[in-house]
Amino acid sequence: MKKMVGLKWLVLVSVLVLLPSLAMAQAKYVGSGKCASCHKAIYGTWKDTLHNKSQQILTPDNGSVVVDWKGTVKLKAGKIPEVSVKLSRGADRSYMATLIDGKDPSKEITYTVVRTYGGWGWKQRYQAKMGNHHYILPIQWNQATSRWVPYNLQNWYNEDGSIKQPSMDKSFEMSCAGCHNTGLELKKVDKGYEASYTELNTGCEKCHGPGSEHVKSPQTKGKIINPRKLPYERGLEVCGQCHSRGVSVPEGIIGFPWNDKDNKPYQLGEPLSKYYQFKPGEWGDPQAHAKSHHQQWHDLLRSAHFQARVTCSDCHNPHGGAGGFQLVKSDSNNTLCLSCHGKDKKFASPAAIREHTKHNYAPETKGTSRCSSCHMVKTAGSAEAGDIHSHDFKIIKPHLSLEMFRKDPKNILPNSCNGCHKDRAGDEAGFLKGAQAYEAKFGK
Ligand code: HEC
Ligand code: HEC
Ligand code: HEC
Ligand code: HEC
Ligand code: HEC
Ligand code: HEC
Ligand code: HEC
Ligand code: HEC
Repeated sequence: MKKMVGLKWLVLVSVLVLLPSLAMAQAKYVGSGKCASCHKAIYGTWKDTLHNKSQQILTPDNGSVVVDWKGTVKLKAGKIPEVSVKLSRGADRSYMATLIDGKDPSKEITYTVVRTYGGWGWKQRYQAKMGNHHYILPIQWNQATSRWVPYNLQNWYNEDGSIKQPSMDKSFEMSCAGCHNTGLELKKVDKGYEASYTELNTGCEKCHGPGSEHVKSPQTKGKIINPRKLPYERGLEVCGQCHSRGVSVPEGIIGFPWNDKDNKPYQLGEPLSKYYQFKPGEWGDPQAHAKSHHQQWHDLLRSAHFQARVTCSDCHNPHGGAGGFQLVKSDSNNTLCLSCHGKDKKFASPAAIREHTKHNYAPETKGTSRCSSCHMVKTAGSAEAGDIHSHDFKIIKPHLSLEMFRKDPKNILPNSCNGCHKDRAGDEAGFLKGAQAYEAKFGK
């Protein structure tokens, strides 16, 4: 009898505990459009962010292609000899790319471009569909330089120049969609996976979880995730699921957070480490400075800002807005950094800041004494032209660039000083000059 009561209690308690999580589990993706009716202002700014705009469905009339689509593009990369891609418009005005075989020019394959990626001032890439999957074609238009450049030519051409079909693991669905689409599901079929998703880009529900239950009863608490209300690390992982590099758990066969044994996507609020692992010595290495795109989360984890519980949203508005890079305050005139550090008397006035930086105070005009110019080095790319800002906020001393250059001249690490002092880079003598200048100003 006693045992029975215990069992009843157990059942009751587990029903009560499971109820909210069951409600979340049953929730379905409804699409960002559904959120617009009640969250008009947020929808209005999110709509114009790169989170929403990066991929577009291409139609003959929406003009998402930013280059005059004609002529023949010549491409060469690595060991692959020069090959040609012919651009043309179909009778229905669709956009077509014809890959010509470099070994036997009588062979060619024509693909219809169905989507574009980017085109907002830097680069644009083009996707074709084969079967259920999309593939990025081997041509990339660089807007800044107005030039065609190859993009993963090796996925489409063999080393003798002959054409090949990219393998399914190279498809957008298998290697990119977990970070570039919302509501991704992968269904196992004979030869790999069949993919589906609810939204082409980063929709509301990628950061808030599926919203059908919340839309039904918006006043009921607990039906939608607010990252701010999650434990600090879990909230950070909402951005970290994409602004990072790693592979699936446990097999490591997919290049984004995923449980590849149970074929289950990462669930917001659960520890990301249950879905994502990092190659030792690489992206998760606490000693390394990130050197390429989407590593902001790894960087932040090893910064003093992580210890101090600073979130991405303290500096970036997740929903966009007026500032460049979705910043909540201006970086170029130090308003952003000083909104917190200005309280410290070391940074309370331009004179005090000059003491710290040992440079003139002209953050907006010359960039001198702009906190980010020394503390957020553009580390990706080359020492001369980095693009992505390091997010560990650490000073990278010229000594480290020198040391790395001496070990491997191809491994260039831009430092806190050579973004402006361009002569203090490039070769061993340059980095050495940089190290000496640093010591003269800041000591060892
Ligand atoms: C029918 C109107 C309605 C729709 C549609 C709607 N919401 Fe809400 N949402 C609300 C209201 C009202 C609140 C405030 C509830 C409260 O104060 O607890 C809210 C609160 C929220 C919160 C904050 C929750 C918290 O705990 O702080 C988030 C996040 C959110 N909504 C996201 C979404 C997303 C994403 C969608 C689309 C999938 C969506 N909403 C669609 C009305 C709506
Ligand atoms: C890139 C991730 C991301 C996307 C996309 C996103 N949100 Fe949010 N949202 C957040 C974060 C993070 C917070 C918490 C902000 C903070 O720390 O205060 C938040 C907070 C909210 C809140 C709580 C109130 C507020 O203003 O802070 C609402 C409501 C909301 N989001 C709705 C939406 C809707 C609707 C969309 C789509 C139009 C959307 N979000 C898209 C990350 C996102
Ligand atoms: C679904 C994956 C995903 C999530 C989740 C995500 N991002 Fe992004 N984010 C991207 C991608 C992809 C881009 C680049 C889009 C492009 O350039 O085409 C981007 C770009 C950005 C940019 C640059 C915007 C610009 O104007 O250049 C910022 C800032 C940013 N994200 C911040 C955040 C923050 C903060 C969060 C968490 C609240 C977050 N992201 C969550 C995928 C994601
Ligand atoms: C682990 C998540 C993740 C995966 C996987 C991923 N991306 Fe991204 N990607 C991002 C984020 C986050 C950004 C924006 C932040 C940045 O660039 O630092 C971005 C930026 C981009 C950009 C805009 C910046 C640029 O280089 O022009 C393109 C294009 C892009 N990704 C294409 C792809 C393609 C193609 C794949 C698959 C082969 C892919 N991404 C796989 C997260 C990812
Ligand atoms: C202390 C402030 C701060 C925090 C915290 C922060 N960022 Fe940034 N972020 C910046 C600044 C400043 C820039 C550079 C903007 C510029 O050049 O005007 C930037 C740039 C970016 C960019 C554009 C690409 C690049 O690196 O240049 C992305 C994407 C981005 N941040 C994502 C994130 C994500 C994701 C997080 C959390 C893991 C985060 N940031 C945390 C200040 C911050
Ligand atoms: C939301 C508040 C906030 C913002 C915005 C912010 N910081 Fe911080 N920062 C902190 C806190 C808190 C600490 C830890 C305590 C301390 O060292 O002052 C910290 C620590 C640091 C440290 C490390 C100090 C050490 O001991 O290693 C550096 C460097 C730094 N911040 C630079 C910046 C830069 C550069 C910006 C602007 C891009 C910035 N911070 C924006 C709050 C902020
Ligand atoms: C000319 C380059 C330069 C600029 C610009 C710069 N710093 Fe620094 N900062 C340094 C150096 C060098 C150190 C010492 C680093 C070390 O020993 O690892 C440092 C250390 C720090 C520290 C940690 C130690 C301390 O002194 O508290 C903080 C916090 C900091 N800087 C914040 C800022 C803020 C905020 C700004 C903008 C107002 C800024 N820095 C601008 C070069 C710079
Ligand atoms: C935003 C650009 C910028 C950054 C970053 C920068 N400097 Fe400078 N530096 C200048 C300018 C401009 C001058 C000329 C004097 C002035 O305006 O303060 C200068 C002057 C100097 C001088 C004296 C004159 C000379 O050329 O030798 C030294 C030494 C120096 N910087 C060292 C450094 C070191 C070390 C770092 C990295 C911690 C650094 N600078 C980072 C722009 C920069």
